[in-house]
Amino acid sequence: MSRATDSGKHPPRKQRAQAAAARGADLAQLRGRNPAALFGEWFAEARRAEPLNPDAAALATVGAGGVPQARNVLIKRQDARGFVFYTSRESRKGKALRVRPAAALAFYWKSLGRQVLVEGETRELPRAAVAAYFQTRPRGSQIGAWASAQSQPIDGYAALAAAAAALEKKYEGKTPPLPPHWSGFILRPARMEFWREGENRLHQRLLFTRSDGGKWRAALLQP
Ligand SMILES: Cc1cc2nc3c(=O)[nH]c(=O)nc-3n(C[C@H](O)[C@H](O)[C@H](O)COP(=O)(O)O)c2cc1C
Repeated sequence: MSRATDSGKHPPRKQRAQAAAARGADLAQLRGRNPAALFGEWFAEARRAEPLNPDAAALATVGAGGVPQARNVLIKRQDARGFVFYTSRESRKGKALRVRPAAALAFYWKSLGRQVLVEGETRELPRAAVAAYFQTRPRGSQIGAWASAQSQPIDGYAALAAAAAALEKKYEGKTPPLPPHWSGFILRPARMEFWREGENRLHQRLLFTRSDGGKWRAALLQP
């Protein structure tokens, strides 16, 4: 049986690498770029190319005793200020971030052969900003946010469905308000790495590091 990558459904690795190599400039030519703006361009391309969840990134946080934790989140906004995601402040990640705000993000856009890695400090968004975003969410998501005590154990999912149904009744004809536990965080990057798949594992890596003064320095890394 052929491997998934050679099944004809997806282009084989070599073909993907060649396509990636043909796309865009050599990363060395991007050293003078502002990394936030460059990310914006890659993000826009990913939105066009990636069929599912182009805005998903693995979010790593630091738990008790310095133990790493990772899970995926959706990045809802990105600009020069940072990367914004929403979650429960009482979840495992929410609690971790409130003790140790350091975090990392890993984006991987398979169809583009690109990865972006981000590290920095997070801070919680002001309540007014979170409330404004919450009001843009579909009603079902608003109810779901109220129903779930994210990261807490549950005996079975019937209880969750019942809680959601009760909340539907409670907020019938009304807009659900912002739950106190629901929040958003912004990660301000201190380090951003752009990675492009190359042939024969000769990938390209462009690393930007931010000085205390806020200036970005660029360096190419070996793959
Ligand atoms: C593609 C994808 C996107 C996700 N986006 C979010 C998100 O934006 N916010 C969130 O709280 N959980 C999101 N989740 C669920 C988290 O991965 C995770 O299960 C949840 O937040 C609980 O994590 P924690 O217990 O480490 O806090 C997403 C999961 C996947 C697979």
